[in-house]
Amino acid sequence: MQQVSVGLVGLGTVGAGVARILTQHADRIARRAGRRIDCKWAVVRDLKKPREGDFEGLRIVDDPRRVIDDPEVAIVVELIGGVDAARRIVLDALAAGKHVVTANKALLAEHGPEIFAAARKADRAVAFEASSAGGVPIVGAINVGLAANQIQSLAAILNGTCNYILTQMTQGGIAYADALAGAQALGYAEADPTLDVDGTDTAHKLAILAQLAFGANVTTADIPREGIDRLELADLTYARELGYTIKLLAHARLADGALELRVAPTLVRRDAPLAQVHGPYNAVRAVGDAVGDTLFYGRGAGMMPTASAVVADLIDVVVGRALLTSRTLDFWSTEAPAVPLLPPSRSRRRNYLRFLIADRPGVIAAIAQILGDKGISIASVIQHEPGDEGEGDEATVPLVIMTHLAVEEHLREAIAQIDRLDVVRAPSVRLGVEE
Ligand code: NAP
Ligand code: HSE
Repeated sequence: MQQVSVGLVGLGTVGAGVARILTQHADRIARRAGRRIDCKWAVVRDLKKPREGDFEGLRIVDDPRRVIDDPEVAIVVELIGGVDAARRIVLDALAAGKHVVTANKALLAEHGPEIFAAARKADRAVAFEASSAGGVPIVGAINVGLAANQIQSLAAILNGTCNYILTQMTQGGIAYADALAGAQALGYAEADPTLDVDGTDTAHKLAILAQLAFGANVTTADIPREGIDRLELADLTYARELGYTIKLLAHARLADGALELRVAPTLVRRDAPLAQVHGPYNAVRAVGDAVGDTLFYGRGAGMMPTASAVVADLIDVVVGRALLTSRTLDFWSTEAPAVPLLPPSRSRRRNYLRFLIADRPGVIAAIAQILGDKGISIASVIQHEPGDEGEGDEATVPLVIMTHLAVEEHLREAIAQIDRLDVVRAPSVRLGVEE
């Protein structure tokens, strides 16, 4: 059987998983690819670092040029993460005539047009299944399985670290910092976990899915985003009381010919499928105009699930499918008509609001008046008996309000006005609700 040589650039969590599949299941992979895949090189940053794994026969070096300049290597697998060095390696690999497989969502979200222009020029494939939702084959599903559809909306849990943290906090009563440390130890988090918890990683993935599903050429900066890093336990508790759970959701929806995009902690009804997604699992709910509602579910982070997607891409490249797909779908093409983005101020959704108010007569009426004046209708209210949290002689109490559909601009104005009331004791909390 013929052989194809591959160079892994990066031998961390994902790279080690890829090396493991290629070594331990070489015959199975060869049958599916029609050629043996020989993992010839691995590039790392620190040659002295102790490494666990069966890397026999793998030439481990610290210079990516060794791989890029090797005429035997047909495919470069970029698994170092980050943007600048990864961009250089991918562009150099394409210029040297190599196909590229990458799991790097930050790179594609920020430099998709440049990378795919270089791929077109070199007539080489860039395959990126692992860049969004880890082991869940959502890239292939949108590109191939749902190709007959115009996707109308996506609602997705795309960050395993955040979903793991939220699950640990809500089900295990674990503190935020301990849950984050657990996600890091399990290999789910980015090298800089701020990118996970502040919503940036989810926005990277949404930018990629928005390109595939809607042809939107957006970067992370175009996507309004909030993370889970400022989420308070009180809101997880109130959400539960209201029959919801809170998930970090990526949301995309075509509305009146414009595309609405955002990433934010969002209330999801406890009986909805997305609410049943726990731990490092991801899920994507995609609604297509022909197929209707679909749901894709699986592990979104971690060594072997991500390696599963990377090796699937390697097989696609070796078989020749990835290049055909790249040529036909023309990813990140600058010639495709641009989809206008809906200005965030015009988006409409239901909201959860929490205020800390003085326990005085007329306070709820004043808040309801401001909301009413902005055309915002209240769906439900929770106010418990005051506890011991009084300031001086006056008790303060949390007031939780669920609204009906409200226009973002009107809601922002109302909240700003409410926060200026002298009976409001802390900046209000606002979270969206997924329908
Ligand atoms: P990681 O564990 O931090 O591993 C990174 C690897 O790249 C290490 O082997 C490191 O070398 C090497 N490296 C870093 N900078 C380098 C440079 N400038 N030159 C040469 N080698 C360099 O990262 P990871 O978790 O495997 O993630 C890799 C990529 O996959 C990232 O783009 C990430 O976003 C993406 N991804 C990760 C997951 C996941 O669950 N972990 C899931 C989906 C996608 P040393 O070993 O010497 O430090
Ligand atoms: N840090 C990412 C996550 C890895 O937790 O989902 C998968 O892309």
